[in-house]
Amino acid sequence: CMSQKRFPEDFLWGGATAANQVEGAYNEGGKGLSIFDMVQFVPKEERGNDIEMDVKSKEELEALLAGKEGDNFPKRRGIDFYHRYQEDIALFAEMGFKTFRMSISWPRIFPNGDESQPNEEGLAFYDKVFDELLKYGIEPLVTLSHYEIPLNLVQKYNGWADRSLVDLFVNYAETVFTRYKDKVKYWLTFNEINISVFSPYIGSGILIDEVENKEQAVYQALHHQFIASARAVKACHEIIPNAKIGCMLARMEVYPETCNPDDVLVALDEDQKNLFFTDVQVRGYYPSFMLSYFEEKNIKLNMLPGDEEILLNHTVDFLSFSYYMSMVATANDKEKELGNFFTGVKNPYLKASDWGWQIDPKGLRITLKKMYDRYQVPLFIVENGLGAYDKMEEDGMINDDYRIDYLKAHIEQMGEAIKEGVDLIGYTSWGCIDLISAGTSEMSKRYGFIYVDQDDYGNGTLARKKKKSFNWYKNVIATNGEEL
Ligand code: BG6
Repeated sequence: CMSQKRFPEDFLWGGATAANQVEGAYNEGGKGLSIFDMVQFVPKEERGNDIEMDVKSKEELEALLAGKEGDNFPKRRGIDFYHRYQEDIALFAEMGFKTFRMSISWPRIFPNGDESQPNEEGLAFYDKVFDELLKYGIEPLVTLSHYEIPLNLVQKYNGWADRSLVDLFVNYAETVFTRYKDKVKYWLTFNEINISVFSPYIGSGILIDEVENKEQAVYQALHHQFIASARAVKACHEIIPNAKIGCMLARMEVYPETCNPDDVLVALDEDQKNLFFTDVQVRGYYPSFMLSYFEEKNIKLNMLPGDEEILLNHTVDFLSFSYYMSMVATANDKEKELGNFFTGVKNPYLKASDWGWQIDPKGLRITLKKMYDRYQVPLFIVENGLGAYDKMEEDGMINDDYRIDYLKAHIEQMGEAIKEGVDLIGYTSWGCIDLISAGTSEMSKRYGFIYVDQDDYGNGTLARKKKKSFNWYKNVIATNGEEL
């Protein structure tokens, strides 16, 4: 279908992954353990609808480290990108990717997080990956921290609850900026920085049972992450003057269930709590509604002299976010629906994925417009996609029309938002190649244009195969989003 031109000529089309979900090789090349190396796969029959990623206490962590018969830690094996990156990048290039979002695994560079010297083997690995991308003219978009906190920092400091992590992170950031300054022009600091509120271990490396006041610990950790992020922005600008560095939010567009002002207020409060993170990182200061919230909850943040200046003086160049679904908030107590973090009630106007995530392409346009109004900085959608069960037909084809429908509807709405004045600079669909799910550690929750032959238990040849959506997306990029 042809329509009025929508996307700018230099629009950054591509796909997104994270080291912990694709690399595998968890104990190769000198890599240390990361937080997600400790999270087990639990079959749906046992876990029900709960998404539980967090390790909560020292004892639990000790037991996981000791191991037991039948342990299954899927993020330790990923999809073996560590050894197959050349083949995978060749496939991304065939689709015409302009950019590829990936993360650097912090414990590949600093295995314990607090060494004085980086691990050369880890640095060399990413050199090879970036060179391979650049060979095809694919711009790397690199997340510094995508749920890959070195485990030692959890054991030693209880993660970001301790301010020591700020300097350790900035040292890591400066190390990779310096090393890759000629190769990487697009950076992100923390993936989905708001996740800590729902998952303190994954977002901030906190064993939550070890602290007295949970909320206090989480917001204090977040303060440390905001400072670390701002200092990374400063370092990036100094070390790579022509680079752009952004923040990253798990965006949760929230609708009120009805026009009852009580519902509207609840929805607004949820929305503010979600935008709090980008308020700090884009505007450079804590919004007043959050300071009131801290007061109400008796949360006292420990801020050092100079913190406010750091936040204000080193705001991000662009705002990136993930968008999978929208939410509905109600002032009534009701049965809640599933979501990645926030749980709301069912939206009768929307269909949901097999995991209960409510599919809402127009919500993406709404969110783009709302965020651009609020912040007036370039926006980048760095995650969006449909997690689904894919089936290989007898002829070997994977006909993922449902995925094409999902992506097409979302890209259409992006185009509309651009026409309506939003400055959107790129789109990297999530899990452009099948990978291990963050939330459930399943392999069977697939997002890719490329199928990977592996099951939830690690059986399979790991062979890569193009799905029907592969050629579809290739054409989307080739026509710069005109043919969907
Ligand atoms: C985001 C994360 O929360 O959503 C990704 O940044 C994650 O790492 C993605 O994979 C999809 O979630 P899930 O649970 O389906 O893997």
